[in-house]
Amino acid sequence: MKNHQRILVVEDDKNSLSGLLKLLQREGYETSGAISAYEALALMETQHYDIVLSDMKLPGLGALSLIDEIRKKDTEIPIVIMTAYSSIENAVAAIKRGAEEYLTKPLNIDALKRTLKKIGERQLLLKENEALKVRLEKKNAFQEFIGNTKEMRKMFSTIRDVAPSTATVLICGETGVGKELVAQAVHRLSPQKGGPFTVLHCAALAGGVLESELFGHDKGSFTGALYTRKGRFEMAHQGTLFLDEVSEMSLQVQVKLLRVIETGQFERVGGEVTKEVDVRLLAATNKDLTKEVAEGRFRKDLYYRINVIKIDIPPLRDRRDDIPLLTDYFLIHYAQKNTKNIKGVSPEVMKLLKDYNWPGNVRELENAIERAVVLSKKNVIETEHLPSNLTHSGETTSPYLQLRVGTPLKDVEKEVILKTLELTGGSKTDAAKLLGVSTRKIEYKVKEWETGQ
Ligand SMILES: Nc1ncnc2c1ncn2[C@@H]1O[C@H](COP(=O)(O)OP(=O)(O)OP(=O)(O)O)[C@@H](O)[C@H]1O
Ligand SMILES: [Mg+2]
Repeated sequence: MKNHQRILVVEDDKNSLSGLLKLLQREGYETSGAISAYEALALMETQHYDIVLSDMKLPGLGALSLIDEIRKKDTEIPIVIMTAYSSIENAVAAIKRGAEEYLTKPLNIDALKRTLKKIGERQLLLKENEALKVRLEKKNAFQEFIGNTKEMRKMFSTIRDVAPSTATVLICGETGVGKELVAQAVHRLSPQKGGPFTVLHCAALAGGVLESELFGHDKGSFTGALYTRKGRFEMAHQGTLFLDEVSEMSLQVQVKLLRVIETGQFERVGGEVTKEVDVRLLAATNKDLTKEVAEGRFRKDLYYRINVIKIDIPPLRDRRDDIPLLTDYFLIHYAQKNTKNIKGVSPEVMKLLKDYNWPGNVRELENAIERAVVLSKKNVIETEHLPSNLTHSGETTSPYLQLRVGTPLKDVEKEVILKTLELTGGSKTDAAKLLGVSTRKIEYKVKEWETGQ
């Protein structure tokens, strides 16, 4: 059986050397021979070896010096020394200098084979472990985080650098660029990775509600506060709190946030007791915070506190080389999810995807691919499966519907469902997938309209 390991044999006795080389070749090893330490070192400059097998007694530079020289360059490669019974002390010295093992001469062939086999197996295991570790680390830290352009690689390396510290990180970027993914990656690579990862979208909540979401409230602190409730800061204790759209926080809540950042302390809304937490704070914004500060909507002191480290995620249009990669990734994902066998996109589709401006960034690309997968009846995505804003360049408004504010919701619903059915060629299942509802719901609605209810 061939095992593809390469052994360098160093032996000054030419007969012994050729005998050994033949023996090892028969065992399936690839071999090189050297008759001196000098020759061995020269060979090692140009060729990679997995094991060095060297005689103890060599002319000129001896085996101990050979070990020293090898170890200067390579701390890992196993060195096996062959020595006469009479010089066991030397063999021990060799082990102390970093040799792996010694064999006594005259050589016992079985012992030689066993030793080499053992070393080979261990090396293989180490290699596999190493590869596995690298794969796992990558997978865990940047799980589902696709990008191979230099902009993204630079960003991954910034994330790796900043994650271990306790500093607040401000994540900036347009909508849909992956700010939440960055926050998750920082958490996963941080010392608090074992703790909770808690997210709060600040834009969705009005001032008072936001405050009680962040800090919790005590029973009876306001009308409707029927129970005492923990806030996100308490929930994120010994973990990470990710404040999304941090610019949308009222000035009043900003003051309180600043205090927690500075002291780790706060009180629940309506509460008397001062609480203390240990939380790594991450914040994201798609606004220019310096402008918010200049215009008085964001506190300068808070800005400096959360902007200790800034990660700017470039918009998708500035890293177009990632588009094919992301497209493939989403294709595989959504094809699997919809149990469809889709091989790829047509060259025209790829060109459109690469040329488009992507105002909604990766999220918009993801949605476009999901939609195409659902609509496609073949195993290739064609132009007709793309949303029309991609195929009619220059069109900036929503291509689907022109709705007026104040249109009754049931009319909006009807129009959206009918337009989607038009798009899916009448398939209720596909329309339901696109709209994120059950097929039954669509069937029910259609029936309702048909019967004029
Ligand atoms: N590099 C990427 N690789 C894979 N998926 C990505 C990548 N970037 C973003 N996505 C996906 O795109 C979608 C939007 O990402 P995310 O929610 O992180 O964006 P965001 O910047 O927080 O957006 P918003 O400003 O709207 O909150 C998610 O489904 C996310 O998984
Ligand atoms: Mg987000």
